[in-house]
Amino acid sequence: MRSFAVFFLVACHQDPVAPDAFSGLCSDQVAAAPTYTNMQELFRTNCIVCHASGVELDLAPTVSYANLVGRKPPNYANPMTDEACGTTLVVPGDPDASYLYRKLTLAAPCAGSQMPLGELGASYMLQPCELQLVHDWIAGGALDN
Ligand code: HEC
Repeated sequence: MRSFAVFFLVACHQDPVAPDAFSGLCSDQVAAAPTYTNMQELFRTNCIVCHASGVELDLAPTVSYANLVGRKPPNYANPMTDEACGTTLVVPGDPDASYLYRKLTLAAPCAGSQMPLGELGASYMLQPCELQLVHDWIAGGALDN
């Protein structure tokens, strides 16, 4: 276990693409506080271009918290288009059970593509510190703070 962790750190350190990638919210040196204010900033900069009013999952500031916490995606009632395979978007305290986190971290979520999508419709991965923010916010109870 320990040797695996060391290998992982070394592998990260040698990443030539993003030695200290800075997202605007955080970097691998400076973590973002795991607040919903920062989550909303993450949505504003990476998601709202698509997830706005009128689409399935509206992540606009006035509605995003209520649409996520303890909720299934809006289309869950139709098994043919169920985007989360019956799971909940945010399960307070449990990132791995939260489809929002799975959708951001898994290359092949149970339905559709990894998020976010880029301009050409191809998935890209958020910065590690941004994924950490999502993880820590959910693990901390998914508070509206
Ligand atoms: C370029 C447009 C685009 C961007 C940017 C984008 N999404 Fe999506 N998102 C989609 C589309 C289209 C779907 C439905 C198809 C799929 O799941 O692949 C989707 C589906 C989802 C779902 C599954 C639930 C549902 O209602 O379908 C979640 C959760 C999600 N996105 C979260 C995010 C988050 C969080 C971000 C930002 C970090 C983001 N998305 C950025 C277009 C986008």
